[in-house]
Amino acid sequence: MHTIRVNVGKGYDINIGEGLLGKVGELVSTVKSPECKAVVITDSNVAKLHLFDCQQSLRASGFDTTAVIFDAGEESKTMSMIGKILEGMAEKGVTRNDIVIALGGGVTGDMAGFAAGVYMRGIPFVQVPTTLLAAVDSSVGGKTAVDLPSGKNLAGLFYQPEMVICDTLLLETLPEEEYKCGLAEAIKTGILSDEELFRIFEEGDPKEKLPEIIARCAEYKAGVVMRDEKEKGERKLLNLGHTAGHAIEKLSNYEMKHGFAVAAGLGIIGRAASGLGYCSEETAKRIENVLLRNGLPVNTDFDDREIAEAALSDKKRSGKTITIAVPISIGNCDLKEIETDNLEEIIMLGKKALK
Ligand code: GLY
Repeated sequence: MHTIRVNVGKGYDINIGEGLLGKVGELVSTVKSPECKAVVITDSNVAKLHLFDCQQSLRASGFDTTAVIFDAGEESKTMSMIGKILEGMAEKGVTRNDIVIALGGGVTGDMAGFAAGVYMRGIPFVQVPTTLLAAVDSSVGGKTAVDLPSGKNLAGLFYQPEMVICDTLLLETLPEEEYKCGLAEAIKTGILSDEELFRIFEEGDPKEKLPEIIARCAEYKAGVVMRDEKEKGERKLLNLGHTAGHAIEKLSNYEMKHGFAVAAGLGIIGRAASGLGYCSEETAKRIENVLLRNGLPVNTDFDDREIAEAALSDKKRSGKTITIAVPISIGNCDLKEIETDNLEEIIMLGKKALK
């Protein structure tokens, strides 16, 4: 088992290893005495696959356990579903002395973390990511949120878990689409900070290196979150590709999966950064090629204006300017504050094919 410490607040461990689902009870008991209820919040798909094993492990360590299950899918990430989950917790007699186990992918982590953060003004929770996307990104760092009709992740809390438990065996059997979504976020980390990681996607077989990929992504993200938990500065870098990505996701009515939209957003920001002279054309080409090699999109058919308008209704908008992350070279990115009036032109530049 590989352990990474995140020193935010009282701090927590990210545990990564094979077969950790069977050790959830043992691991959780190191942060919470088993004389309490462990309420597993999960979606209808993950419940069929992993709920039994998770609860079995919790019971074996002496926890009383119950579950709240919601319908799988981004459409569930709403305030009204949060209300149902909270009501489910209340009906099952969950108290402030109990603990939430968020078992699932990015949507589940966001929802269960949000529910734990507001239930009785906050009860502890543990992240157990079951998708690559959740393992390399969303389970770490304490961002929780739901979507509003006006945009993605517009209501949420920074609420850190007590622990993250990542069983790498669960990720080997993911549906291909789900796997590719995680690759997009991991490729993003390579572009941000780690050329050696980027090369795994450029030249190697990522499936053979999942534990290393997850550890490198978690290590980098833990560092960023420790330096800037509340996204005042450096953490904004983690939104690389997300300005256009979130807009594309929203314009597709969330039919396009988050990772695919982020991939298109990475392609767009790579080409735009090259057009603006922040990075070389070769860097933009490497970003395109690595995404294509891993079965991900690099562009979109939505037009420049609608992408810019959708992006500007996003939470990262702040007055007349917006901060975007741009690649400088592979493994090195920077933040640029741009006029919101210029966003459409930047998107236009990013949609243009490279020579
Ligand atoms: N997913 C970006 C962040 O956690 O800040």
